[in-house]
Amino acid sequence: MKIRWVGLASVLVSCGLLAGAREPNHAPEDGYELWLRYARVDDTARLGEYRAAIRELVLTPREPTMQAARDELVLGLNGLLGRPVPVADAPTRDGTLVVGTPANSPAIAALPLAAALREAGPEGFVIRALPVRGRHAIVVAANRDIGVLYGAFHLLRLLQTEAPLAALDVVSAPRYGLRLLNHWDNLNGTVERGYAGASLWEWASLPDSGHTRYRDYARANASIGINGTVLTNVNANSAVLTPAYLVKVAALARVFRPYGIKVYLTARFSAPIEIGGLPTADPLDARVRAWWAAKADEIYRAIPDFGGFVVKANSEGQPGPQDYHRSHADGANMLADALAPHRGMVMWRAFVYSNAVPSDRVMQAVDEFEPLDARRAFRANVLIQAKNGPLDFQPREPFHPLFGRMARTPLLMELQITKEYLGQDTHLVFLAPLWEEVLRADTYARGPGGRSDVEGRIRGLAGVANVGNDRDWCGSDFNQANWYAFGRLAWDPMLPSAAIAESWVRMTLSNDPQVVAPVVAMMLASREAAVNYMTPLGLAHQMARGHHYGPGPWVTGGRADQTSVYFNRADSIGLGFDRTPTGSNAVRQYLSPLRERFAGRDSLPDNLLLWFHHVGWSEHLRSGRRLWEELLAHYQAGVDTVRWMQRTWNGLEARVDADRFHRVQGFLRIQETEARWWRDASVLYWQSFSHLPLPPGYEASAHSLDWYRQLRCPPDPRKPRCDAVMEP
Ligand code: GCU
Repeated sequence: MKIRWVGLASVLVSCGLLAGAREPNHAPEDGYELWLRYARVDDTARLGEYRAAIRELVLTPREPTMQAARDELVLGLNGLLGRPVPVADAPTRDGTLVVGTPANSPAIAALPLAAALREAGPEGFVIRALPVRGRHAIVVAANRDIGVLYGAFHLLRLLQTEAPLAALDVVSAPRYGLRLLNHWDNLNGTVERGYAGASLWEWASLPDSGHTRYRDYARANASIGINGTVLTNVNANSAVLTPAYLVKVAALARVFRPYGIKVYLTARFSAPIEIGGLPTADPLDARVRAWWAAKADEIYRAIPDFGGFVVKANSEGQPGPQDYHRSHADGANMLADALAPHRGMVMWRAFVYSNAVPSDRVMQAVDEFEPLDARRAFRANVLIQAKNGPLDFQPREPFHPLFGRMARTPLLMELQITKEYLGQDTHLVFLAPLWEEVLRADTYARGPGGRSDVEGRIRGLAGVANVGNDRDWCGSDFNQANWYAFGRLAWDPMLPSAAIAESWVRMTLSNDPQVVAPVVAMMLASREAAVNYMTPLGLAHQMARGHHYGPGPWVTGGRADQTSVYFNRADSIGLGFDRTPTGSNAVRQYLSPLRERFAGRDSLPDNLLLWFHHVGWSEHLRSGRRLWEELLAHYQAGVDTVRWMQRTWNGLEARVDADRFHRVQGFLRIQETEARWWRDASVLYWQSFSHLPLPPGYEASAHSLDWYRQLRCPPDPRKPRCDAVMEP
């Protein structure tokens, strides 16, 4: 059976058995070093320039963060320059790299950097080429040690990407104060929607062991500016709030602290009952409030810089304030009051949907949260954390209407780095273009400073992490690019996807222009390819039930608003969810002129067509083609793009190390097979409604619809629930 072969291929790839013979004396490219490989600069002219510009390092490592900066620079420069760089107390020659803050470096205090440092703010940095005490120097300066560390990573990135150093003049400050990873890690070591092995957090051996890997995790995060990590799953376990776990959390926080990373936890709303022995978790009950206040005190005694709580309440069966007929604001504020004396934050998730099946699931968040916002119901230390779209991390969704509707409450945008709905560990899908699309969307709401884009209305990004204990951290080489892209965008949300991809390729794979250009092109095309072969023209949530891997447009039964048929509304007339005023009227949640634009068949972009409209199979679209033809063309384009990615990659064999070349090649082979699986299963299913023929020459499906419907998920141990939950 073909798909069994796919599963086998996946296992062989992960075991390295398809990796081919390794060249002798060649360290395995196993992905552990991520984008921090610090391989010697290839280009000889650049290498000469760098060696002349950086002949010694002046940095006084008094504090742990300065030590981290020193260690990273020594490691990075030694590797990149291919020779040791001595560390000195003061500049002794031309070609000095001077690193520090005005407070810890007399050389920097004496430089005219006040205006630039003001611009850099608390976490930013300045990098300049300028004379220091009469010597040619490069300066990395910041107001705080953490800015120095970020600046050190930035300088290393310039060298890793072989950028010229002449006339260096960089001032960089993060756009957002909150740049967070959200781990969906369970205390038993499993990771919800994790495709890179087990949890990194080895709770059984903490607080005493495993620090090297934790430190490398922190380095990787700091290198892209991430400054917080939520250790536990949003489907929370209250045990993490008990003393036995808090001591372990404190140990992780100690490793992360020098790298500027605060630790957060998910708070299970019913914890006062489960671990506090109270009869209720009612947020207005004085005993409950006192319990949370005491719990917060206890946490801060163990972890003085603890960041706060993330809460999933009254969603998918999680407990919450509505269990006591209280509002989301009552629940969030109770926790906010407990944390406020310690300056902790509550990130209250807007991913809510109640036990009653609504007429349109995507509308619930605005209906619940907008009235609370209008009443200014939330405390100042509450943020509402909303997913990028109103449904659930689909290959394409419109932006979440909440971003235009919450004028008073600070918002966080949650993105999913782990690709639950985008091919998980195997498919190459670079997510920056998806995120860029949302961040740059116009809400038409005047935000602070008159801004009306989504990016201007949020205070930070929270990324559902794709990190596990696999040697390569992310389950595939290219999945690492999504972790990298998330951090870079959280620092600068206007950074173009192409620039992010290019720097990642240069740091991770090669600076060879013959590699950089084609690989960047592959990455930039990959997201639209996945949209096309999975859910073109605004379709959504057509994945198989439960594990969400592979197609399942026929999924029905169980809770209606978790089924594919609820979202695709396929019938003999046409396809798509009518969200115009004749349907659910979800368009009303967008501000004018968006609501009219989305409601109008002629004004809506085709890429969101079936999200908002039920369209007849033979209706003409703007392209002049009928829906049926357009749909088929998109599925085929998805498959064709993956084939083009394969050919492009195959052309790089001589230029990429054998380890990574063969690993990626194996995954692309799987992706091509599965793109066809998606296309054929979907087209056959739609055809059972449209009864329209495939045009002459259209690549015929290898199997019948029935065959696809009966197919089980590839027997990959990473997807343990596949067999259990696939439809028979
Ligand atoms: C999705 C995902 C769940 C997760 C949920 C959430 O539905 O499939 O595993 O718990 O999102 O974000 O809370």
